[in-house]
Amino acid sequence: MPRRRRYVERPAVARAQRFLESRRERSSRPARQAPVPRPRPRSSRPGVPVIELDDVHKTYSVGDIAVHALRGVGLRIERGEYVAIVGASGSGKTTLMNILGCLDTPTSGTYRLNGLDVRGVDEDALADIRNREIGFVFQSFNLIPRTRAQANVELPLAYAGLHRAARQERAVAALRQVGLSNRVHHLPSELSGGQQQRVAIARALVTNPAMILADEPTGALDTVSSAEVLDIFGRLNEQGRTIILITHEQSVAVHARRVIRISDGTIIADERGEPTGAVG
Ligand SMILES: Nc1ncnc2c1ncn2[C@@H]1O[C@H](COP(=O)(O)OP(=O)(O)O)[C@@H](O)[C@H]1O
Ligand SMILES: [Mg+2]
Repeated sequence: MPRRRRYVERPAVARAQRFLESRRERSSRPARQAPVPRPRPRSSRPGVPVIELDDVHKTYSVGDIAVHALRGVGLRIERGEYVAIVGASGSGKTTLMNILGCLDTPTSGTYRLNGLDVRGVDEDALADIRNREIGFVFQSFNLIPRTRAQANVELPLAYAGLHRAARQERAVAALRQVGLSNRVHHLPSELSGGQQQRVAIARALVTNPAMILADEPTGALDTVSSAEVLDIFGRLNEQGRTIILITHEQSVAVHARRVIRISDGTIIADERGEPTGAVG
């Protein structure tokens, strides 16, 4: 009998599938108990930046070669900012995103997320912080295949232990925010690329995170879908959300209010201004 092929493009997807499977197995058990308190970023403290990086270095070792992907990055991002991080391929954008998203840790330097120094926070607690504070959007959408839009969006809420009726209500509201009220019961394979990315944005939004971190979110989209996605980010930012948009395209970066340029692992420019991106 042929084995079902597993979708392992991203650790997050593999983790989500394991979670869904374990939930199916455990569905007759009572609801999980309140979690043990863990270190929490103090999201509501005024004057504390969402992100504060100080002299962050990241070095990868490949055989006996050291690759210096980040070389002393210092960065402060306040609540409600809309920032594009732009740079050529290989400049260190994804490395930086992985650190900002607590998916990886700096080799040296400090990273504070909402005032919390993430160094020394254990893996479980980091996963918890990620789930609560950060909404991720990737170039490749990373939706769970054969799982309806609404269930994809509900997933982070299931991790958070929210029960069914509340999950459904919030997932439907998030899908409404991205203009997909009429696609709630569709499978990813029944949606266009642009619609799949909007489902992914709804999933990023549903936990009401402190920030949305998007790595090349328009990289796989046509011009019209890209404009729709950028339009959604613009609206979310107007509602007060912090958006960090990583891109190699200047035409995408101009949609942000602040553009940070990275080259060869260092920040070479940091400019604020009115977004000039025209839709279309
Ligand atoms: N896991 C890794 N192991 C070794 N080198 C890596 C790894 N990830 C990235 N790099 C290297 O670090 C540099 C920055 O990569 P990356 O952050 O992916 O850049 P970008 O996203 O801007 O294209 C590149 O030289 C890349 O080859
Ligand atoms: Mg990259």
